[in-house]
Amino acid sequence: MIPMTLFSSSTREELLELRRDLHRHPELSFQEERTAAKLYSSLERLKPKSLDRIAGTGVVARFEGRDPEAPVVALRGDIDALPIQEDTGLDFASVCAGVMHACGHDVHATWVVGAAHLLNENPATGDVLIILQPAEETGTGASKILASGALDDADAIFGAHVDRRFTVGEVVAQSGPLAASSDTFSVELTGRGAHGARPQEGIDPIVGMAAIITQLQTIVSRRINPAHAAVVTVGTVKAGTAPNVIPETAALSGTIRATDPETRDKLHEEIRVVVESTAAAHHLTADLTLETGTPPIINREEPVAWCRRAVESVLGKGALKHLGSLNMGGEDFAFYLERLPGCFLRVGAREPGGKIIPAHNSKFYAADESIFVGAAVLAETARIASAELG
Ligand code: NI
Repeated sequence: MIPMTLFSSSTREELLELRRDLHRHPELSFQEERTAAKLYSSLERLKPKSLDRIAGTGVVARFEGRDPEAPVVALRGDIDALPIQEDTGLDFASVCAGVMHACGHDVHATWVVGAAHLLNENPATGDVLIILQPAEETGTGASKILASGALDDADAIFGAHVDRRFTVGEVVAQSGPLAASSDTFSVELTGRGAHGARPQEGIDPIVGMAAIITQLQTIVSRRINPAHAAVVTVGTVKAGTAPNVIPETAALSGTIRATDPETRDKLHEEIRVVVESTAAAHHLTADLTLETGTPPIINREEPVAWCRRAVESVLGKGALKHLGSLNMGGEDFAFYLERLPGCFLRVGAREPGGKIIPAHNSKFYAADESIFVGAAVLAETARIASAELG
């Protein structure tokens, strides 16, 4: 467990209060005005070298290192909430109807502020940037932060996610894939409307759509190497207005997941083949849109080694756990890793004996103590990375 001596009791109280305040007042992606103002003032009290609002509702603070010439390391915490009605029963539950911190970003925002406290007391070799990122849930915040230029002089970046599959004090820091790419496809089919009793007079887009949905299932099962993770899920289908009418059009959309770039490209290519050829076989016109979202997170060995050293020094060797089965969720931290070396961690957030509750569930919350684990591990990672990069 986290050494109590790392945080003064007043800092502990301040961080707990900050987390509870953020949790009580969740805000959706790019609407995090109150959240950003609150985090800005928490960081302002720590007297950073610079402090700015960026990327709409984001915040960046620079904390001075021992050597102004040394490499700069960034720590990222995401800050947005989800459109879910909270059902945790916590005494600091959301007061905003239909919005809640169901993914633990209240804790992520708090632990990077906690890391700033620790780095103020015991600075890294180089400057450390604390990045509070909006809009992770929509996969759009990280690109805005990158576009703002806030990371232009950063040499590495680190971040983490709470995870109730692991107990507080356990951390996953491993190389290889940690999150999947998340892309979207949508198909608009056009046929010819007719009376439901006289199908020969029309071109039925519903039967064509059904065939496409069935054929899509063969991509992962027949076209992709079974040793590589991949998902194609149809999430929406829309067609028709009456039982006795063959409609003119039908539409469907879905999500595409992969953990390596080759599989990701192959899925896109195969979806195109299935949609175009199946539509043609049904005399339909197909308009396919493939939207590229977040890339997969693939942790590289060297930054992982720095994180593992940080975990061992803060929590001891036994704290390091293996991820187990891969989570095919997406995480827009991947955009930073396309640009910079770094690593993304999973931080245990279940109290001993507590239940495993999945993120994005109305009962999800992260245990308080995970704040201090995340803060201490990220601060120590920044110190190690900054020294190693130099
Ligand atoms: Ni999340």
